[in-house]
Amino acid sequence: MRPQVHTIAFVLALSAAKTNAATNLTSLVNLFIGTASGANGGSGGNSFPGAAVPHAMVKVGIDVSTAPRQAGYIADNSSITGISLMHDEGTGGNTNGGYGIFPLFPLTNCAFASCPVGLSARQALRAAGADAARPGYFTTKFVNGIQTETTSTRRAGLIRFTYPSTASPNNHVVVDLTNDLGRSFEGGSITVLSSGRVKLSGTYLQSYGTDNYTVFGCYDFNATNLQATGTYRSVSSSSPTNITISPNVNSLSFPFTSSVNRIQAGALLSFNKSTLLARFGVSFKSTDQACTNAEEEIPNWDWDAVETASRTKWEDVLNRVSTDPSKQDANVLTLFYSSLYRASLVPANLTDENPYWTSDYPFYDALFCSWDTFRTVHPLLSITSPREWAEIVNAYVDGWRNTGEKNSLGFIPECRANTKAGYVQGGSDGMPILGDFAVKYGARAQELGVPTNDLYQALVDTAENTPPDWYRVGRQNTAWKQFGFIPTAWVDPSGSTGLATREASRAFEYALGDFAVRQAGIALKKSTSDITKYANRSMNFVNMWDPSVTSEGFSGFAQRRFINGSFAFSPPNACSPVDPVGHSCARGDDNNVGFYESSSWEMSFFAPHSMSTIIKLMGGTATFLDRVNTYFTKGYFQAGNEPSFEIPWVYHYGNRPDLSALRVRDVIYKNFNTKINGLPGNDDSGAMASLLAFHIMGLYPVAASKQLLIGSPLLSSFTINNNFFNTQTTFTVKNFDSTTLVAAPPVGSRIYVKSITINGNISPSLCWVDFDDVVGGGEIVIEVYGDATAAASAGCGSAPNALPDSLETGGFS
Ligand SMILES: *[C@@H]1O[C@H](CO)[C@@H](O)[C@H](O)[C@H]1NC(C)=O
Ligand SMILES: *[C@@H]1O[C@H](CO)[C@@H](O)[C@H](O)[C@H]1NC(C)=O
Ligand SMILES: *[C@@H]1O[C@H](CO)[C@@H](O)[C@H](O)[C@H]1NC(C)=O
Ligand SMILES: *[C@@H]1O[C@H](CO)[C@@H](O)[C@H](O)[C@H]1NC(C)=O
Ligand SMILES: *[C@@H]1O[C@H](CO)[C@@H](O)[C@H](O)[C@H]1NC(C)=O
Ligand SMILES: *[C@@H]1O[C@H](CO)[C@@H](O)[C@H](O)[C@H]1NC(C)=O
Ligand SMILES: *[C@@H]1O[C@H](CO)[C@@H](O)[C@H](O)[C@H]1NC(C)=O
Ligand SMILES: *[C@@H]1O[C@H](CO)[C@@H](O)[C@H](O)[C@H]1NC(C)=O
Ligand SMILES: *[C@@H]1O[C@H](CO)[C@@H](O)[C@H](O)[C@H]1NC(C)=O
Repeated sequence: MRPQVHTIAFVLALSAAKTNAATNLTSLVNLFIGTASGANGGSGGNSFPGAAVPHAMVKVGIDVSTAPRQAGYIADNSSITGISLMHDEGTGGNTNGGYGIFPLFPLTNCAFASCPVGLSARQALRAAGADAARPGYFTTKFVNGIQTETTSTRRAGLIRFTYPSTASPNNHVVVDLTNDLGRSFEGGSITVLSSGRVKLSGTYLQSYGTDNYTVFGCYDFNATNLQATGTYRSVSSSSPTNITISPNVNSLSFPFTSSVNRIQAGALLSFNKSTLLARFGVSFKSTDQACTNAEEEIPNWDWDAVETASRTKWEDVLNRVSTDPSKQDANVLTLFYSSLYRASLVPANLTDENPYWTSDYPFYDALFCSWDTFRTVHPLLSITSPREWAEIVNAYVDGWRNTGEKNSLGFIPECRANTKAGYVQGGSDGMPILGDFAVKYGARAQELGVPTNDLYQALVDTAENTPPDWYRVGRQNTAWKQFGFIPTAWVDPSGSTGLATREASRAFEYALGDFAVRQAGIALKKSTSDITKYANRSMNFVNMWDPSVTSEGFSGFAQRRFINGSFAFSPPNACSPVDPVGHSCARGDDNNVGFYESSSWEMSFFAPHSMSTIIKLMGGTATFLDRVNTYFTKGYFQAGNEPSFEIPWVYHYGNRPDLSALRVRDVIYKNFNTKINGLPGNDDSGAMASLLAFHIMGLYPVAASKQLLIGSPLLSSFTINNNFFNTQTTFTVKNFDSTTLVAAPPVGSRIYVKSITINGNISPSLCWVDFDDVVGGGEIVIEVYGDATAAASAGCGSAPNALPDSLETGGFS
């Protein structure tokens, strides 16, 4: 599916980055990875392959007629219903997808008043193999020969239709007001001006949450070639497919209704040219702002300028981890740079487009959801993109600042989707994100524009207060503070409500959230009493531990718990891939297991801040290591979802980084590839992408801390370019062995870490490195060897702090 690379030459505008002059990293990105259908047990990465700049508001791409289609696109042979202006990236949730607003559709060979403008009447098949994309550009062709192309800026873009030259002089375009991906129109309007401008506004439901949002659009067509205009609409909302086209009726308006209006409506424009260029802008503020965005961002309708600028931005982003492609495995390169690409598509920069409050701080959308992204997306940004990350962190803090009830301050946003609060999946997982920022950039936050007192207060408020509805934001702190766990079957006397399921997994995430406050407290020099308090609370995950439960010969599993202290049993394999019963594992009331999208087998490993406690609870190191192996060999590992992300690495905590090295290879080569089915699960706003990027770099970030677990990279050399510290840190694998680039490296192949030197100094640990070294500039040399016996006995090394930190054993001090 990978298209030919484009031939626009341009100079890489990279200030301090150390790059190879021949580097052209965008050509290594395959945008179709993870676009296979998730229907019928398919892998369903829900990746977005259309045109977008990094962190763009506009993500323009084609939409298929069949669900699931969370990002609009699926690489199958289903019909296309339009090319629309905004999309999500990799998310789960509503299978119809989010956004997909204001689609265009090209028509030819029809008389104006009888053109098939309705959604199912107009839909068309693509020509075989016609889809192609590269960063900043997407194209496809329909079986009738009409080609569609698009490119974009942050809030605007260009769409070009090329009609077959043999076509009738009457070429048309539908501008669809009502059909977002969710078919959730609640009201809006469309106006066609004689200048060739079409203004739109519409209110639609968000795809993951209970609210709606209003968005504005502006299309400009070249009036010189305009032959006819008009609008169309269903005769009634109860007969949506019975559509009347009205030539010269150039305005329609539908008042807001609080339930979805099934009506179809839009505009139809005819042209006497075979190539039609549309410029568009989008806004969350007004139609005029949408037009201004188009005028300002694309003043000259210059396609090459827009596409080149987009590609330059992507070269810059991709070059933050640079390498010499000629020296690397081609498959690894495609996996790596496609991952770096998708990891920077969202969150979406809606700065200057916040319709809800006035603020000097940035506004970001598609925090969808922090549950997915705190583990690897934000830690990757922390290494490669601190300036962008600081904006995103500021948007989290500003959410707390501006969303409280009755003039009080609010809560850290958790799952902002379609600009509104979405559902909370577990903890308030923006907490580890803010904690991570405080730890890594707290000392220089002022230079990055992040007020750390506010950041800390946002953490404390989210850790202490309970919102009226903790299903949309925040946590059930009433329970957490009173019991030290999240009880099952408890009616909160405060009247605060939420969805009371997922008690056990929420407790584990609340514990990590409290650890994040503790970490921020230390980094920002807050009171000892705070630090002690949150350290203490972060250990409360142990209260969910039922030592009497057994499975596969292992004892002690996380369980739900009643307020009287006794446990509510559910089988540890429930909600695992090998669950023989098939329990409900989502948010709903039918989840009677206590875990969210994870099993007790899996969540019982989840205490990134105190893995020594997990090892103790599980009965010691030897049993722990056996148990990790059993988790993988007996099928409890769920590669396609976030709770599993760290587990291939946890052998490190049992002093066996050699086993992690083997396991990470196994996980990569059995679950990831460069084809459309190349992701084991939803990309989830770049979560899967950033995980794979870390695996390939031989690093895994420990939440809300400066530690990164280190292992055996799949690139022989790469350089991390940090755009705030202006540092270049080159990782070199000494004795790199490309025969290890398989699921099961041959015996004797050099996959084990023998030594690590950081700027010439021998690292005290073979298991972890400090963030300050990863972005500190200079050289990190990882020497590898193939001696399995020596590696097993060397472990993490013999220095006192060789094992990665755990809170219980005095780590993270
Ligand atoms: C990217 O690669 C293509 C094809 O190899 C080449 O034509 C183009 O000039 C390259 N661009 C840059 C910026 O190097
Ligand atoms: C579309 O693809 C499916 C699955 O590959 C196949 O069964 C079906 O025949 C195809 N339909 C068309 C119209 O090509
Ligand atoms: C939807 O939009 C309308 C009009 O903007 C607003 O009054 C209403 O509160 C919104 N929310 C829901 C859930 O309908
Ligand atoms: C509009 O079309 C005319 C005639 O084809 C052309 O001269 C003009 O440059 C076009 N304007 C834009 C903005 O493309
Ligand atoms: C088609 O467009 C051209 C401008 O490109 C215009 O001069 C011409 O009159 C148009 N023809 C018709 C039949 O409208
Ligand atoms: C469509 O609506 C019109 C106007 O109400 C009606 O006369 C016509 O019978 C309808 N057509 C169909 C196919 O329902
Ligand atoms: C976000 O948008 C603002 C406003 O245009 C801009 O200043 C900032 O650089 C953008 N950030 C990113 C990461 O695109
Ligand atoms: C936390 O504090 C409580 C109350 O002081 C104490 O009983 C408990 O042992 C502490 N837990 C930890 C892990 O320090
Ligand atoms: C604790 O409460 C649960 C739920 O009400 C009940 O089933 C169980 O028997 C109680 N256990 C004890 C020891 O009282």
